[in-house]
Amino acid sequence: MTERNLGTDYWDQTLASFFENGSGDPWRVFCDQLHLRLIADWIGDSKVGLALKTDLFDESAGTGLVAALALNAREVHAIDFSCAVVAQAATKNPGGHFVTADVRCLPYEDNSFDLVVSNSTLDHFPSNADIVSSVEELYRVLKPGGRLLVTFDNMANPILALRHALPFAFLNRLGLVPYYVGESVTPAGLQRLLSQCGFKTEHTAAIMHAPRTMVVPVCHILRGRSPQVLRRLLRLMAAFELFGRWPTRNLTAYYTAALAIKPQTRPE
Ligand SMILES: C[S@@+](CC[C@H](N)C(=O)[O-])C[C@H]1O[C@@H](n2cnc3c(N)ncnc32)[C@H](O)[C@@H]1O
Repeated sequence: MTERNLGTDYWDQTLASFFENGSGDPWRVFCDQLHLRLIADWIGDSKVGLALKTDLFDESAGTGLVAALALNAREVHAIDFSCAVVAQAATKNPGGHFVTADVRCLPYEDNSFDLVVSNSTLDHFPSNADIVSSVEELYRVLKPGGRLLVTFDNMANPILALRHALPFAFLNRLGLVPYYVGESVTPAGLQRLLSQCGFKTEHTAAIMHAPRTMVVPVCHILRGRSPQVLRRLLRLMAAFELFGRWPTRNLTAYYTAALAIKPQTRPE
């Protein structure tokens, strides 16, 4: 991927072109489902106090996770770099505590949140240094004992590694990459990153095993079809999640995921 200067305008425009191409993409519905399952498996029904979500693209472009998080949290706050994304998400979720902000420099006090959910927000930066500063920022705003549920594009998947090596403009023209994707991590790299920033990893998972290069064009063709067709497609995509139990899971997963805790005292 070539390095790009990603201002807020870039993400405003990304949302606009997403709607020009038609909303209701089954791929996004499936992404929401997988992340909701992770939240259910790792957080369960326990009450979580204050929660923060680190981008609002899912809520703007589809249903997203905020409404589900609000069922068990006292308050859900969320940020996004793009004013257009925040505005669209706010229209769909009236009363949400949403602000335009940069995840690398959050407008919250230290030790504010009990839970942070960051699904594929931190893999859109051109440099690893930005990833590290974002995770340190998430550590700062979490309370001791607070948890971070994070997913990243999985760089151990050879297809994603190849995508990373190819020019973004070319892949974007083919419709294989809808928006800029930046540096990311392998599953082992994610654990190292979390530990380097002071977190203790409690769970890891490898999710989204449906082959994207095949599924995305099918999703595009079936966009707007009947709910039965959509359900069948989602069931088919879900069937690939069986690969998440295989020893090869880190090679086939699109996302690497972790649940990490901020310890009561920062380890040396
Ligand atoms: C296109 S999305 C992908 C994330 C989405 N959760 C998903 O799983 O598909 C990237 C989102 O992150 C937001 N974003 C990019 N850089 C950001 C930053 N530095 N701080 C906060 N949000 C950022 C963008 O505005 C955009 O809404």
